[in-house]
Amino acid sequence: MAVTINTLREFKQKGEAFAALTSYDATFSQVVSEAGVHVILIGDSLGMVLQGHDSTLPVTMDQMVYHVSCVAKGNRGSLIMADMPFMSYGTVESALENAAELMRAGAHMVKLEGTDWMKETITALTERAVPVCAHLGLTPQFVNKFGGYKVQGRDEKAAEMMIEHACELEAAGADVILLECVPAPLAARIAQAVRAPVIGIGAGPDTDGQILVLHDMLGITSGRKPRFVKNFLAETDSIQDALQAYVKAVGERTFPAEEHTFKA
Ligand code: KIV
Repeated sequence: MAVTINTLREFKQKGEAFAALTSYDATFSQVVSEAGVHVILIGDSLGMVLQGHDSTLPVTMDQMVYHVSCVAKGNRGSLIMADMPFMSYGTVESALENAAELMRAGAHMVKLEGTDWMKETITALTERAVPVCAHLGLTPQFVNKFGGYKVQGRDEKAAEMMIEHACELEAAGADVILLECVPAPLAARIAQAVRAPVIGIGAGPDTDGQILVLHDMLGITSGRKPRFVKNFLAETDSIQDALQAYVKAVGERTFPAEEHTFKA
């Protein structure tokens, strides 16, 4: 049965964890989907993973639309989430136009990076039938504002602010919240504070779902391996088995383990 936003809500209600992964092409999407991964994200990480840039900023709408349409062809029932690339949602009008393109290409939900300034945009999108995931914490499109890829929400003031933003974005209509690189106790507080399913990457074991970049979990990360990454291909020589091991580990909450987690 196809995964929908209701499936993710049911996972949260039952206290069970769902698995998400990035994917950018038809072949991998089919394999990822058949392995039981619930959500496929066409991340703008493709700018780094596929294109070799040192940030996600150069990724264009045309490129995102192309990759979403490839993923949609390979997908076998996962929920397809598509990143809105840098500056494609700088105004409400541009967000509506660009989100429509991603939905026409096959996305079931779009993901936006930012905080309370996105409220109006999220309301406009969700009122017009576009489900939204709000990405908080380390939002890579803000790398030049952050001065690097750093864990966010480390002090109590920043943590309180992130909780407030998550609640405000949910109230504005966000269907899913994604937290990247935040201390595990903060992620747990946010997952409890909102009714929307919360997906974590580098956010500890207590979110409702987990996500990794596909290439990272297959051990082909270029450069330094981030703390939150586990290579699931290290213990098998089959990509299919590695993907299934990831889904199982997320479901059993054995991944992320302590060594993949930021405590504060
Ligand atoms: O672009 C991406 O792959 C992402 C994940 C890291 C969550 O946003």
